[in-house]
Order: sequence, then structure tokens, then C-alpha cells
Amino acid sequence: MNRDHESARTPQDQTEQVELQTAATQPAQGEQQTQPAHGEQPKQPMQPAATFNGAPLTAAPGATIAAALIGSGRQSWRTTRGGAARGLFCGIGVCFDCIVTIDGESGQRACMIPLANGMTITSADA
Ligand code: FES
Repeated sequence: MNRDHESARTPQDQTEQVELQTAATQPAQGEQQTQPAHGEQPKQPMQPAATFNGAPLTAAPGATIAAALIGSGRQSWRTTRGGAARGLFCGIGVCFDCIVTIDGESGQRACMIPLANGMTITSADA
């Protein structure tokens, strides 16, 4: 390991490095601070609450509807015309296996839409 590079630094260089690192961790003017100040409790984003076929459904903030459904123990949430169970398959919006009805709008992909507060979600075949 070559230590010549590190030993060539002057104490002033090291002070400037610390100042640069400190500036990089401080929020810019007008930017919201995301880390709580020392001694403060971290602010938790609100957990969205919705319903699925009338039952309460919650998930971590930012989770998709499919993640919320999987997290609530459901492995499938609709059936095909032939009666086959369908739920999460591709998880990237390609297969349409996960479709649900959200606030009356049918054909919505549960894997692509974050769960939001107040959503009324029903299975596509409900
Ligand atoms: S799981 Fe394939 S589109 Fe949602």
C-alpha cells in the first residue's frame, strides 16, 4: 500500500477535507432537512391506509398496492374466466396478472401503483 500520497497532505488539506465533507452533509438553503436534529425523534412518513374488497389495507410508505396485498398475506387477488388464481407475476407492469379496480377505475396494475391513503381497491373480478 502506498502511503506517500496520504502523508503528503498538510494539516490544512485535512481541515479543508473535513469542511467539504461537512458541507456535503448539510442541506442546501431551501432544502428540507431529512435527518432529525440531535435529540429529536425521527419523523415517520404516514402509513397509507386503504381498503381492499372492504378490508383495511396498509403498507410501508411508498409500497405498491401489490406489495401491500402480498404483505397482508394474499398470494392472489383475482381469478381468470377459467377460475385460475392470479396475483403478482412479473412485478414490473408487463403481464397484467395483478390488475385491480381502484376507486372504480378497472384494469389498474397493482404492481405499478403506490398504495395511497383512502384508496378503495377491489379485485378485478369482484
Ligand atoms: S405483476 Fe405483471 S403487470 Fe403487475
